[in-house]
Amino acid sequence: MKYFLDSAKLDEIRRAYETFGIDGVTTNPRHIMLSGKPFRKAVGDIADWVAAEGLTGWERFPVSVETDPHIDDADALVAQARELAAMSPNFVIKIACTENGVAAARRLEKEGIRTNVTLVFSPAQAILPAKNGSLFVSPFLGWKEANGEDCRAYIRNIVDIYKNYGYYGKTQIICAAVRTAKQIVDCAVAGADIVTAGLDIYRESIAHPYTRQGIETFAQAWDNTAVE
Ligand code: E4P
Repeated sequence: MKYFLDSAKLDEIRRAYETFGIDGVTTNPRHIMLSGKPFRKAVGDIADWVAAEGLTGWERFPVSVETDPHIDDADALVAQARELAAMSPNFVIKIACTENGVAAARRLEKEGIRTNVTLVFSPAQAILPAKNGSLFVSPFLGWKEANGEDCRAYIRNIVDIYKNYGYYGKTQIICAAVRTAKQIVDCAVAGADIVTAGLDIYRESIAHPYTRQGIETFAQAWDNTAVE
């Protein structure tokens, strides 16, 4: 399973790449705002970093960049997506899962611009992006679980549907808004292709109190043992 970093902050992206070897980045308008930079500067800086690392191309290191959420007209979405895609060969264009959004993603895929259909909250929503050949579909977990839903069946159903119809691996499932280590495990058990989460979640997922306790126990033993 691939790990993407859900952030537009360059220091976090750099850190997550160096420490955890993340496989890509997802941004959204909220992450861009939190970067403190203007939109074009924030995504341009990520594009420059990707190129400097020698990771050119969406196949090697996809960076999802979301269209203006005020736009809900397929022609306007396609026009903005073309403009964003021209900024970097790593950019995958994120479009909300609406009727016009899916129509725009279908047109973009036909002209070779890769898309990530986002803000997906049900298996029914996840089917059309796959039928239309989007590179990614982003079912959100964290928001649903914060609302009291258990998302295991939701992700498993999307994986099963994709397997039933040959979409699995072609349209890759990015489990988005992942907030806990347990959700990462749930996604991996279900067979999701990718999780996207913040740096803190990946840090938490690698930490365990028994590992820390074990290091302390062994350090004491080490200190009470002669070396020669
Ligand atoms: C995914 O692609 C989204 O950017 C993301 O997971 C949304 O999560 P957020 O609620 O942390 O912004």
